[in-house]
Amino acid sequence: MRVISVANQKGGSGKTTTALNLAAALAREEAKVLLVDMDPQGHLAEGFGLSSLSLDGDISLALEGRSSAQELTLNMRQGIDLIPANINLSYFETTLFSRRGREDKLKEVLRGVEGYDFILIDCPPSLGLLTLNALSATKEVLIPMPCNFYAMLGVSLLLQTIEDIRRKINPSLSILGIIPTHFRRTTHAREVLERTKSEIGERVRVFEPPIHQSVRFEEAASLGRTILEHAPAIQGALTYKKIGEEICHG
Ligand SMILES: Nc1ncnc2c1ncn2[C@@H]1O[C@H](COP(=O)(O)OP(=O)(O)OP(=O)(O)O)[C@@H](O)[C@H]1O
Ligand SMILES: [Mg+2]
Repeated sequence: MRVISVANQKGGSGKTTTALNLAAALAREEAKVLLVDMDPQGHLAEGFGLSSLSLDGDISLALEGRSSAQELTLNMRQGIDLIPANINLSYFETTLFSRRGREDKLKEVLRGVEGYDFILIDCPPSLGLLTLNALSATKEVLIPMPCNFYAMLGVSLLLQTIEDIRRKINPSLSILGIIPTHFRRTTHAREVLERTKSEIGERVRVFEPPIHQSVRFEEAASLGRTILEHAPAIQGALTYKKIGEEICHG
């Protein structure tokens, strides 16, 4: 079972889109995938068309030890299960500071989970305790990065943070790769991509090609569908499929 966090402290970088569509791509390869939402925004549930506010239970119940992971698991598609989150997780985060083993709560929850090939964890846009819980429960991190200058600076910062976490909390943490997102055919986007490959590419895999920008992603989210269902022929859908194949088979 491979446990992969999708993380980037920058908001709107494509974490949820990547987690959800990578799950769909892996399920196409007949892998069994559990998606875990660690973001109080609850976008993974919303992305499948479920209202996060009307859920019966969310991940915070498991983190508090009041429910098991199994009790909170919902089936979304063939091969894709979800432990959803909502705003309750935000309240839980505020109580985490004073708890013992505060960065190990998710790890404990996932210890009781079996039967999956992949667990994909969607992180919130911050480097706080929820992301720390995800990175301490994980062996691999996937980083979606919009192809613009500030996002590239943000990734450098994130790489340093991941290195810190690896040294202090989780020695088995490694970076699976950077997925460039929101790519447009502009000189700037191309330059950012080239700089990322030349400056970081020796240490960290940069997946290619980048995921091109397309309004189809927003449409798919609002319809509660994956991009493979909504617009399977667009570049972004084909690329998520390819990344899924690569991660699944090698
Ligand atoms: N390749 C793309 N082209 C166009 N729009 C995209 C693309 N990828 C994602 N989006 C859209 O951009 C927005 C942000 O994406 P997403 O929610 O996946 O980012 P996020 O990193 O999870 O955001 P947050 O930090 O708020 O959790 C969404 O509306 C999504 O539909
Ligand atoms: Mg998100």
